[in-house]
Amino acid sequence: MADISKRDPLVLFMPSGKRGRFPVGTPVLDAARQLGVYVESVCGGRATCGRCQVSVQEGHFAKHGITSANDHLSPLGPKEERYDRVRGLPEGRRLSCSTQILGDLVVDVPQDTVINAQVVRKAADERVFDRNPAIRMCYVEVEEPDMEKPLGDLDRLKAALAAEWHFDDLDVDFHLIPKVQQILRKGEWKVTAAIHKDRDDDRARLVALYPGLKNEAYGIACDIGSTTIAMHLSSLLSGRTVASAGTSNPQIRFGEDLMSRVSYVMMNPDGREAMTLAVREALNGLIGKVCADGGVSRADILDSVFVGNPIMHHLFLGIDPTELGGAPFALAVSGAVKVRSSEIGLPMNDGTRTYLLPCIAGHVGADAAAATLSEGPHRQEEMMLLVDIGTNAEIVLGNSTRVVAASSPTGPAFEGAEISSGQRAAPGAIERIRIDAETLDPRFRVIGIEPWSDEPGFADAAAATGITGICGSAIIEVIAEMYLAGLISEDGVVDGTMAERSPRILQNGRTFSYLVHDGEQRITVTQNDVRAIQLAKAALYAGVKLLMDKQGVDHVDRIGLAGAFGTFIDPKYAMVLGLIPDCDLGRVKSVGNAAGTGARMCLLNRGYRREIEETVRRIEKIETALEPKFQEHFVYAMALPNKVDAFPHLAAVITLPERKAPAEASGEGGRRRRRGRE
Ligand code: FES
Repeated sequence: MADISKRDPLVLFMPSGKRGRFPVGTPVLDAARQLGVYVESVCGGRATCGRCQVSVQEGHFAKHGITSANDHLSPLGPKEERYDRVRGLPEGRRLSCSTQILGDLVVDVPQDTVINAQVVRKAADERVFDRNPAIRMCYVEVEEPDMEKPLGDLDRLKAALAAEWHFDDLDVDFHLIPKVQQILRKGEWKVTAAIHKDRDDDRARLVALYPGLKNEAYGIACDIGSTTIAMHLSSLLSGRTVASAGTSNPQIRFGEDLMSRVSYVMMNPDGREAMTLAVREALNGLIGKVCADGGVSRADILDSVFVGNPIMHHLFLGIDPTELGGAPFALAVSGAVKVRSSEIGLPMNDGTRTYLLPCIAGHVGADAAAATLSEGPHRQEEMMLLVDIGTNAEIVLGNSTRVVAASSPTGPAFEGAEISSGQRAAPGAIERIRIDAETLDPRFRVIGIEPWSDEPGFADAAAATGITGICGSAIIEVIAEMYLAGLISEDGVVDGTMAERSPRILQNGRTFSYLVHDGEQRITVTQNDVRAIQLAKAALYAGVKLLMDKQGVDHVDRIGLAGAFGTFIDPKYAMVLGLIPDCDLGRVKSVGNAAGTGARMCLLNRGYRREIEETVRRIEKIETALEPKFQEHFVYAMALPNKVDAFPHLAAVITLPERKAPAEASGEGGRRRRRGRE
């Protein structure tokens, strides 16, 4: 490298913010490489792939001491002109391989370089990440065979890859060796090699080979949930999500909740195999669907990332999950898993690789690790709580200094099971509800019907869908609203004396229930329903409190609610119920499918794989079953919102019923749930 002087142009790359001085005449792509800024390049600087596009931000950037202008780049040369003529260069874009630095610059590296007018569909989450995928596409021109030099075709290909791309010690997938001669000849000695290199210290490996310039490569990122599976197909070269699809997990037919699936494996000799097969079949179906939707060939998928809770993770890999069914909840493997996709029954390209994020603990899985990566409690100073509520709540609490994690056996109540009128979120289910504190009458909204129940048009629409039950998010709301309206006490007892005020309070033997809707289906909230939710929320809150104890904090700064349930619950009601600790409501956010986002991050940037591997090693795992204080927290958390904890942020925005003095908690509240409900 030439000597750098202070008079050399200063170049700042965005969004990475990396900067450096380079001699006049340095190609922009070289400058990026030297600074470790990832700029895609398939053609190796021949100005044919168009992947290396950048643009210049013009103006004076006082903070950086840079005055940047388009004419601080060399003018359009013949190579770029040819590319523009043949393929079209978008306004303001330059090919960084063919453009030299002439003066100070702020260079934008766009993350969306769309080539071949690729169809792009908006995914639910369009977050853009810095890219550095494990797969690189490398175009080379290979020397033709020569009688004088008896080197094999593959060896000459390797020599070309070493000379042009600096892959000096390349491994080669065996499946390519029988095909290499044919591919080289088909491409007239011009080929594109797909090179896989995950860790920096891994040996690079040739995993696929295409004749000519192959300017496409794709990857899938997938979250295998126990109820639903969500998959994204992304371009590894542009980072764009090309298609997304989801399906329900077919393992449901073996058992609704995770533990019943483990029991199925324990009771049936072929159970594990049947469940592995079921999930792989569903994944293959989804791969077919995202490929069809995105107009992508299955063989062009070269990398894949999967996450799931420990039991899904094991069943997907074909590992017997029996050990996860009881203490000490031993994982067969907790670290990241790398495997060839064809070895786990996912035919794509013969060279496609699969990466599974590490699991945090025996019941805090790779999905929680992915959600952690996505939301980044470990990257910031504030104390952040991340909760993924399913039949087993996975909880992560921490900041850049320390991160702790646990799971809490919440049971299936939040999903509508164990609730008399509970049902999955589907048309006909009540999803929002309000109770008038004066009349004690409810008004509600039903999935599939736009107006609320007291608005014109509701009755006609409801006649079509029916009003069939209450889904998980509304169960939280109805119990919180009942509490706010004085229908239930802070100990969760449905108050029978309210029957004087409203015919909606019904007596069932020694307890009472609240009538939400009387129609073809009678929808009530019973005392048992309230108890089931109290038990579930108390388990979750007690887990959170244990983690707060470990961190030595009495409040959290931010809360992220992950997963489908977290997307739909109203944070205010979750707090009224005491499901989550007190926090500024503006800082409680649904983070959507954070696990899927984390998987996509690992697909598009192998640096994130290292980040989460390192983070998971550092996360302290807390086993709630072994913590003596869990019981005490659980008992207090049976009350609404809590027997002992104050909710000052919540009280500032909502009038909570007056609290009675802390009393001895009832024995019923202390009933410990068995982890078997996970
Ligand atoms: S590297 Fe291919 S066009 Fe620049």
